[in-house]
Amino acid sequence: MSHSYKKRTIGEHSLQPQSLMMGYGYDPQLSEGSIKCPNFQTSTFVFKSAEQGKHFFDVVSGRKPLNEGENAGLVYSRFNNPTIEIAENRIAIWDDAEDCLVMGSGMSAISTTLLACSKPGDIIVYSEPIYGGTDTLVNGILKQMNIQAVGFISSEGAAGLKAALAQASKLGNISVVMIETPDNPTNNLVDIAKSRELIDAIGQTQSTKPILAVDNTMLGPLWQQPLNHGADLCIYSLTKYVGGHSDLIGGSCSGSKELIAKIRKVRNGIGTTMDSNTAWLILRSLETLKIRMKASTEGAMKVVGFLNQHDEVIRIDYPGLLKEDHPQYQIYKKQCQGAGSTFSFEIKGGEAAAFKTLNKLKLVKLAVSLGGTESLAQHPAAMTHSGVPKARRELIGITDGLIRLSVGIEEPEDIIADLAQALK
Ligand SMILES: Cc1ncc(COP(=O)(O)O)c(C=O)c1O
Repeated sequence: MSHSYKKRTIGEHSLQPQSLMMGYGYDPQLSEGSIKCPNFQTSTFVFKSAEQGKHFFDVVSGRKPLNEGENAGLVYSRFNNPTIEIAENRIAIWDDAEDCLVMGSGMSAISTTLLACSKPGDIIVYSEPIYGGTDTLVNGILKQMNIQAVGFISSEGAAGLKAALAQASKLGNISVVMIETPDNPTNNLVDIAKSRELIDAIGQTQSTKPILAVDNTMLGPLWQQPLNHGADLCIYSLTKYVGGHSDLIGGSCSGSKELIAKIRKVRNGIGTTMDSNTAWLILRSLETLKIRMKASTEGAMKVVGFLNQHDEVIRIDYPGLLKEDHPQYQIYKKQCQGAGSTFSFEIKGGEAAAFKTLNKLKLVKLAVSLGGTESLAQHPAAMTHSGVPKARRELIGITDGLIRLSVGIEEPEDIIADLAQALK
């Protein structure tokens, strides 16, 4: 049975994600004609009968499969809730995925996924630099559970991943390869399709195939669709571009029905589900995702143009600046549709100069996080990546003069004026 509010075509014409964000998955007639999906702010749902309650429980716990065209009955908001499910349906559209799960934060999406896909004795391979929370998870918390991690430096490309896979396979079964591309804060790209090839090759030597999970927070879903390049899972900190207003914390994971069902079981069990109010804010944000990401990327390109000519700036890590002879240029061209609006730039004078510049900013706010409507700047070596040992930081390009900037949707000329006075 196909519901009219789940139609993705008009006749032969396929509707694009942007158009589907306004109504997909929501039937106004089920909510008094309300044009907007309400926030179903409820912890639990009333069953029509004990028999129905029994059936809903059997389905939601995975004991019974869904009948053809049947939706899982509503039981309890840690398992399912209409506002949450509609947000999941719409994120899945952007990711070109069969299914999606939303969770309480980007870190709950990452940790729930890694827990669902690994068991004690397994090895996780991950790209470096990676978000600090993910680093702590794989190198601290999961190690206590006898799940080991082997890193590879993103800028070393396929050779780096190949060596890490070889090393990891000597230690045990590789359960997940977790890639952040572009990496944060240095914007190196990892070739997803090439990674798939290498992972499949190593997969032949073990009993289970490693899962390729991509943290798509920096470019997605507008500028990069990892599932279309061979990834199994696409993960977001929805806190960033998808939420987009710096007013919520959330995460998601998209992929095949089969894999998502496996992760759903763990999410529902350990309780890393998103709350309905946050899901409602996500629905609001998804309607403007495309225009926000386009506007901030256009702004970032102008700001990068200004910084690129500035005497105090030594280097800028921005995919939009890659030259044709750069090894990452081809990856950028085949894998990304845009360069995004978060990048780092190194200035002369190390930490003292970087701090002075950050302290002088007037319009751009000094704060961590990224992807919001307002521009934010921070110092990775002293803030987001301060947990990475200094020698490692220098090796991966997180120098003391490096500033990370997330360009918002203010007028680019105003951001440039602010940076110009701060860099003086
Ligand atoms: C790339 C990336 N992944 C994951 C996370 C974690 O997300 P959250 O803070 O929503 O838990 C962040 C947060 O900064 C991030 O930048």
